Amino acid sequence: MDVPVLTIDGPSGAGKGTVSRAVARHLKWNYLDSGSIYRSLAIAALNEDVDLQDIERLTAIASTMKLEFHCENELQVFLNGKEITPLLGTETTGHAASVVAAHPEVRATLLQKQMDFQQLPGLVADGRDMGSVVFPDALYKVYLTASAEERGLRRYKQLIEKGIDANLDQITQEIEARDWRDTQRATAPLTIPSGAIEIDSSKMSIDQVIQRVLDLVQQG
Ligand code: DC
Repeated sequence: MDVPVLTIDGPSGAGKGTVSRAVARHLKWNYLDSGSIYRSLAIAALNEDVDLQDIERLTAIASTMKLEFHCENELQVFLNGKEITPLLGTETTGHAASVVAAHPEVRATLLQKQMDFQQLPGLVADGRDMGSVVFPDALYKVYLTASAEERGLRRYKQLIEKGIDANLDQITQEIEARDWRDTQRATAPLTIPSGAIEIDSSKMSIDQVIQRVLDLVQQG
């Protein structure tokens, strides 16, 4: 039997993670946070002091690293048996992830790891190239976006809520720079996959977005 897949692609900060997790929980489907795979590789490389342009060493790490994901309420990630969850969301990790993700050899090495998540009863896959490269035959495809200003503001509020000092202009600029790298790279750039429904979440609440995506799956 074919395992149904719902792909949710889009730029960073569009709300993909929150929406994907909520939809997966609701449908009782599996969840792939593909960004966390690139982030884990970035953490492994930084830990081992590997140059982020050293493709040979990066692919060696990518093919041997052992990742475990536990998703009860929040996602927990273990790299070679050690929990790395607190490191996943930092700006340093995000930036390094976007650099290692630009290498086609790295992406090819991580492809199968991502495809292995396609298990019954279904999969919600969140990333940049889920509907275009990893699961091009997915039954449901969403492209979730929001303006860079709105995404910057959301990130800023998250940081302030956590008591972390933040600068809105700088965050928005970093988001724009990340968008540029993710959309301009030669391999699997961030793009609207063919057949995807586009949702601009700039003026929507997170609950409205979740409902919209659930309607798409439930109304087939
Ligand atoms: O979604 P995220 O912010 O956790 O992703 C971190 C980086 O990983 C992002 O800058 C681009 C890269 N990425 C990717 O190239 N392809 C994916 N499917 C997911 C993430």
